[in-house]
Amino acid sequence: MRLVKSLLIGFAGISLLASCSAGGDDQGTEYAPNMYHSVAYEPYKQITDKEAGRWVTSIEYPDNHAEYYNSNNFNPFRMNMRTPPANTVKRNAQGWLPYRLPNDSTGLRLADRLKNPLDSTVQVLSDGKALYEMYCDHCHGAKGEGDGKVASGVKVDGKDKSAYAGVPNYKSDALKGITEGHIFHVITYGKNLMWPHGSQIAPEDRWKIAKYVKTLQK
Ligand code: HEC
Repeated sequence: MRLVKSLLIGFAGISLLASCSAGGDDQGTEYAPNMYHSVAYEPYKQITDKEAGRWVTSIEYPDNHAEYYNSNNFNPFRMNMRTPPANTVKRNAQGWLPYRLPNDSTGLRLADRLKNPLDSTVQVLSDGKALYEMYCDHCHGAKGEGDGKVASGVKVDGKDKSAYAGVPNYKSDALKGITEGHIFHVITYGKNLMWPHGSQIAPEDRWKIAKYVKTLQK
């Protein structure tokens, strides 16, 4: 009796494992296929089998295919996604092109001439302040005087805990005249001792900060 039982369990186990195999065009037995195949059009979906998913659908599809049939007869590889035309450039949510000035002295010089696409509204400036406090304050200080908590020469509880040398004062003669474009460029790529922030801060937010930095210089 015990032998029969263990044989049965073993057999059940083997057949269970065997049914899981997948390979080639066969994706194996799927449990809850709704989790893998979405019914909506998706860019990378290309299920060409008109019968796929018929057993789970009760909906009658017009051209006699099943629920997961999800491919496009007109695009290469039957994908729903279209390859963009050559040399097209993706714009962001604001419709702006990517920032293309190079990270060198020429780029920095040209950045001087950029115009901030945002207006100096109360909202923009208060966003700029909040972002400045998040990303810049600890080095540049609340008033932009180069006295943030980690800037060198700054004493915290009587001790010089500073780690960051060379943080300038925005009100210094050297920086008084910098433009918002210049600030945008420096946030994006960093400069000498300052690290770049381009990957952390979205372009729109960088422009907001640039506006706010100009108000600190007054
Ligand atoms: C880790 C410290 C640190 C942080 C954070 C930091 N900076 Fe700086 N920043 C510096 C230092 C150091 C310099 C001086 C760079 C140099 O060596 O010329 C500098 C220089 C600058 C300058 C002057 C550039 C020039 O042309 O000389 C601007 C403008 C500036 N930072 C803006 C910002 C803004 C805006 C932020 C926040 C998004 C920020 N920084 C975050 C350390 C920092």
